[in-house]
Amino acid sequence: MFEKSEYTDTLLRVLGLDLPSKGKFPTLEQGEVHIWTVSVQGIEEQLHHLKSLLTEEETAKISFYKFEHTQNSYIATQAVLRVLLSLYLDINPREVQMGARSKGKPFLNHDRPIFFNISNSDGLCVFAFSGDGEVGIDLERIREMPDIEQLIQKNLTSREKEYVLKDPDKKLLRFFRFWTFKESYLKAIGEGMRLTPDNLEFSVEKGKIRLRSVNYGFEGADWQFKEFTRDGNYTGTLTFAPRGTRIREMMPI
Ligand SMILES: CC(C)(COP(=O)(O)OP(=O)(O)OC[C@H]1O[C@@H](n2cnc3c(N)ncnc32)[C@H](O)[C@@H]1OP(=O)(O)O)[C@@H](O)C(=O)NCCC(=O)NCCS
Repeated sequence: MFEKSEYTDTLLRVLGLDLPSKGKFPTLEQGEVHIWTVSVQGIEEQLHHLKSLLTEEETAKISFYKFEHTQNSYIATQAVLRVLLSLYLDINPREVQMGARSKGKPFLNHDRPIFFNISNSDGLCVFAFSGDGEVGIDLERIREMPDIEQLIQKNLTSREKEYVLKDPDKKLLRFFRFWTFKESYLKAIGEGMRLTPDNLEFSVEKGKIRLRSVNYGFEGADWQFKEFTRDGNYTGTLTFAPRGTRIREMMPI
């Protein structure tokens, strides 16, 4: 535990991140995964401040995003990620060194291992941190999609489709839940697009999410899955490796 720097304190207050324990930052204990939830809506006035935290490489990536709101959300997400990692490491946000694995998964390049993953959907961002092993997180706002039928056909296996289509009132919610199961797993293993989502089959049995099969056969780790919701409109999944992990929700909204 340590005191936050004044600079970081201000930034966190600006972002509405009121940290717990009277100004003390939580320590990432062994066997814990921390999930932070941050709204990146309405941060336009702080963009300049947030942008100043990014590296040249990160700044260059802003233009990859087509729309202003997606650019802003990228800036805010990267800045908050830097701030949170700097607080875990007790260094300046600009000193946080990150790299990217071959399929794009970012990792921390420091002696102290902190595994992390982030997801952003419609103004809300979730960050997962673990000291023990890889994590993947995915968040989606549950929303009407004009191409929902094609997405279901393309991304779900026959068994999953049967479950999702069984109850028309629950179709959208169930589709997004399964989407985040798959995305969070793909993000945990760092594969991104290489493994198409219909190669994975998930099931929910007595409230427990199970990965039933992976056709490509790699990744034997004993992955665990934890579903969560945000604000009534968002559904998300955390994928993590070790058993017995304590999940701490640092910023529920
Ligand atoms: C890379 C990918 C996993 C990102 O997912 P997304 O839903 O577009 O975006 P999210 O907000 O959830 O996550 C983006 C973050 O994931 C991280 N990321 C990037 N590549 C990653 C990878 N290969 N593995 C894990 N995390 C990755 C980055 O931090 C990225 O943030 P940035 O865009 O600000 O740099 C996604 O583009 C992808 O490859 N998906 C393929 C699987 C698919 O089609 N799933 C449909 C499920 S039904």
